[in-house]
Parts: sequence; structure tokens; C-alpha cells
Amino acid sequence: MYLFKKISGLRLFLESYRSKNRAIGFVPTMGALHEGHLSLIKQSLDSTQCTVGSIFVNPTQFNEAADLEKYPRTPAKDLAMLYKAGCHAVFMPSPEEVYPSGLDTSVAVDFGALAQPMEGRFRPGHFEGVAQVVKRLIDIVGPDKLFMGQKDYQQYLIVRHMAQALSLPTEVVMSPIVREKSGLAMSSRNERLGPENREKAAVLFRILQKTAQWMGQYPPREVERKALQELQQPGIEPEYFELVDGSSLQPIPDFESPGSIVACAALWIGGVRLIDNLILK
Ligand code: PAJ
Repeated sequence: MYLFKKISGLRLFLESYRSKNRAIGFVPTMGALHEGHLSLIKQSLDSTQCTVGSIFVNPTQFNEAADLEKYPRTPAKDLAMLYKAGCHAVFMPSPEEVYPSGLDTSVAVDFGALAQPMEGRFRPGHFEGVAQVVKRLIDIVGPDKLFMGQKDYQQYLIVRHMAQALSLPTEVVMSPIVREKSGLAMSSRNERLGPENREKAAVLFRILQKTAQWMGQYPPREVERKALQELQQPGIEPEYFELVDGSSLQPIPDFESPGSIVACAALWIGGVRLIDNLILK
């Protein structure tokens, strides 16, 4: 496995694959890796000839300075995990390498209604930062396939929309959510939960599963209300629970309408913000 901190070295390395028409897969991450991240790496290894992972805690997508500061950083462990998984190359740039002064790195794509609800509502500016860094990283790596987790469903849709809007020659692939034994979706932020809160946080997945049962019994807004009510527990502060169309992210009017339905939720527990979702249809 090769580690690159500079764009020039990475480009030279990738040229040897590109010149032989070998497909390049790319998995962008912010580090503090877990099995969820590794599942994306494995999916890339299975369907491309060269897998590049990146580790970059992107400052422009944090809407709170404290969250950026507290974001876990475990580079040595991350590199060992990527090496063991069989990743071909890791890109670990400095902020200056990603955002050289004078270079316009903003992304002019209208995300319309996709960026407005849920994460967009509670984390203003977040998706502008995500789109900016993912576009910049795609420009640097030039992957044939980009692997994004379903865990961040709205982020996946926004990146897919950006790739289409800008006609990028990169296929955006969604990878399923990897969960802890308790059902809690794996997240770098779980490390900041104590053992007690980590156990308690599993309620989020239990309620997402309950939603699947409530689907046949109650209308969508009533299901959302019941879910939020059950999440109201001591020490837990739910932020949203929404049943949305899987393509437009608009609230579904009923369960019979065509298209996919996704239940998306966010909550705070012990000062940590967690998100999760379940594809219901
Ligand atoms: P990060 O939170 O490190 O996640 C990197 C990728 O791993 C994302 O595509 C995310 O959806 C996926 N992922 C996280 N937890 C997962 C789980 N439990 N199961 C499956 N996949 C999971 O998302 C980001 O970083 C950043 O916003 C980034 C795209 C790198 C841009 O900075």
C-alpha cells in the first residue's frame, strides 16, 4: 500500500493503472475508520483494479468549530486497517494541498430541494462543504467508481446529483449500512459515546425497524409522530424523524405512492449527534 500526501505523487501512481485501462475505485473518508468504512473499501476491491482511500477531515463541512475540533483522529490505526484490507493507495493530504489559496474550489451546483430538509436544515452549509471536498477529491483522483455509504443517505444523493449535474465520468455507488451487534449504525462518532450511551443509542435502529411495522397501520405523519415520541427518552434529544421519497427526499404523502421510501432520523445523545436510516420500500 502506498501513502501519498501530495497530489503529484498520487497522480503519477494512478497513471500506471489508467494507462492500462484499469478501473480505479475511490473511497473518501474522514478517518477514525471502522468496519463500515472497510466495507466500502472491500466493495471497491471487488469491482475495480485499484482502490484509493482518502483520509481528510474536511474543515469546510463542519458547521460547528467544536465538532471539527472534537472529531476523532487515529491515522496510525487507520493506515494499519487499510493496509490489512488490501487497499492499494491512501491519500492523506494537508488542508493546503486540498485547498491551495487562489484556487476556486467552490462548487456551482444547485441542489434544490435535496439539500434543504433533514441534515440541510440542522447543519447549514454542511452539504456545500461536502460537495466542495468530494468534487475536489474526484478531480484529484479521477476515479471510475466512487463508493458512498447509505449511512449518510442524503449525502449519497447529493453527491450522485452533483456527479450527474457536472457530467463527471464517475459512477457513484451506494454501499449498505454496517451495524454494531446492538443494531447501532457504525460511526466514527460512536467512540465519543460512553458504554452506557452506546447501548442506549441502539434505540434509534429499533425504532426505525418498528416504523416498518407501523407502515401498514398508520399514515406517514402519524408514524413520524409515534417514532419521535418513542425517542423522547431521558438523555436523548431527537432532532428529526422523517419518512421521505428515496429520490427527492420530499415527505411521502402515503405509503402507496410509487418509488422508494426511506425513514431518516437524527438525535443527540451524551453530546454526540447520531444519524441513521432504513430503506422501507
Ligand atoms: P465519513 O463519515 O468518514 O464516512 C466516509 C464514508 O463511509 C461515507 O460514504 C459514509 O457514508 C460511509 N460510512 C460511514 N459509516 C458507515 C457505516 N456504518 N456503514 C457503511 N458505510 C458507512 O462521510 C464522510 O466521511 C465525509 O462527508 C466525506 C464524504 C469523506 C467528505 O468529507
